[in-house]
Amino acid sequence: MRKLLFVNACMRGEESRTRKLCEAFLETYRRKHPDCQVEEVDLSRQELRPYDLGMLAERDRLIGEEAWDDGIFALARQFAQADDIVVGAPYWDLSFPAALKIYVEHIMACGICFYYTEEGPKGMARAQTMYYLTTGGGFIEGQNFGAEYMRGIARMCGIPQFQEARAEGLDIIGMDADALVAEACQRAAALAE
Ligand SMILES: Cc1cc2nc3c(=O)[nH]c(=O)nc-3n(C[C@H](O)[C@H](O)[C@H](O)COP(=O)(O)O)c2cc1C
Repeated sequence: MRKLLFVNACMRGEESRTRKLCEAFLETYRRKHPDCQVEEVDLSRQELRPYDLGMLAERDRLIGEEAWDDGIFALARQFAQADDIVVGAPYWDLSFPAALKIYVEHIMACGICFYYTEEGPKGMARAQTMYYLTTGGGFIEGQNFGAEYMRGIARMCGIPQFQEARAEGLDIIGMDADALVAEACQRAAALAE
């Protein structure tokens, strides 16, 4: 069965406008792939811990033992096994919410999502495309370091395609935020076509 992983970093939950783009994408994706399984990781509820010395030591030990079935690698396995990945993340501080960075720390297990060679890292993820959906209060104008970072993560994991949809300027007085979000929802849906 085809698996879509939805990495939901929309920290404002139901209030989130980025979430609306995600819903538009998911609706079209489900219509295109009626038998797909959508797995959501809701980072506003997960309360993942950033890696510290003890956690790194434990992870290194488990990697050394090739204990890939250990629960510590559950998010990494899920990421590596998805057929497609959609990331929804609002534009915060030229990037995205910190919860998404912590999620990345949890998935980037050497031996599951990538491995190192003398020529550099080789990706092990199955997905063909990472979709990145965002909304910004101002204009993003080529300064989305979050999206560029996630593009790099996709490349390192061997995911060849990276596609984006966004709405910008939503917090600027005088802008019709609802209309801008509606247009961006159409672009998000078109990505899933
Ligand atoms: C903590 C925080 C940081 C933000 N940083 C930026 C920023 O750097 N640039 C910008 O244009 N908007 C920024 N915004 C505004 C959001 O990008 C904007 O309101 C966005 O639509 C929020 O998405 P959401 O409705 O999905 O939560 C920030 C908002 C918050 C709450």
